[in-house]
Amino acid sequence: MNYEIVLATNNQAKVQEIRTFFKDYTVTFLTLDDLKLKLKPKETGRTFLENALLKAKAVSQHVNKTVIADDSGLQIDALQGFPGVYSSRWLEDKTYEEKNKEILRLMHVHKNRKAQFTSAIVILYPHKEMRFFVGTTIGKITRDIDHHPNGFGYDPIFFSDELMKPFSQASIEEKNTISHRGRAAAKLLQCLLDKRLITKIKAR
Ligand code: IMP
Repeated sequence: MNYEIVLATNNQAKVQEIRTFFKDYTVTFLTLDDLKLKLKPKETGRTFLENALLKAKAVSQHVNKTVIADDSGLQIDALQGFPGVYSSRWLEDKTYEEKNKEILRLMHVHKNRKAQFTSAIVILYPHKEMRFFVGTTIGKITRDIDHHPNGFGYDPIFFSDELMKPFSQASIEEKNTISHRGRAAAKLLQCLLDKRLITKIKAR
């Protein structure tokens, strides 16, 4: 039987990226929707790690299962790391098209377009043991919004230095190979394999 992990997020794009990453392993990810859990944990921490832990703990109080939470965001050098931990809360009532336009407006005067995404993943087991995994990926803020339909959030304004294209033009598999979340997930995968909680599904 597959090992079950609850994903402490309502963000369907993140769920899809994580499920795709682990598709060849004996693990099933349950979402808050699957469990009919209506939770929106407050992200009051000052770091990605603190916020990931807040989310994992909030969900863990309601389920007797292993929980993982990801807190992530975009950090722009010329804006001193903004929006960082505020990536989702900043202009919360606006669409990402509007948020991305506002970033491009703020960046208008800046020559330095360097930026990075960071993801902090926390795994919290039912017996309360926990582990943290962090991944980053670097790139540049584009001059225009890319309108390719892939991706979510700030993907349309993030040009990946490693993929040499905006994240919005990458498939989920491609993005997972070098993304912040993919890199944190690779460390999580190794931990789950080391603990023999999951294994690779054998090809028939
Ligand atoms: P969180 O759900 O509080 O971790 O929100 C993170 C926010 O950062 C997301 O809502 C997005 O705005 C942004 N973000 C994090 N990872 C990505 C990504 O891979 N692509 C685009 N935006 C991202």
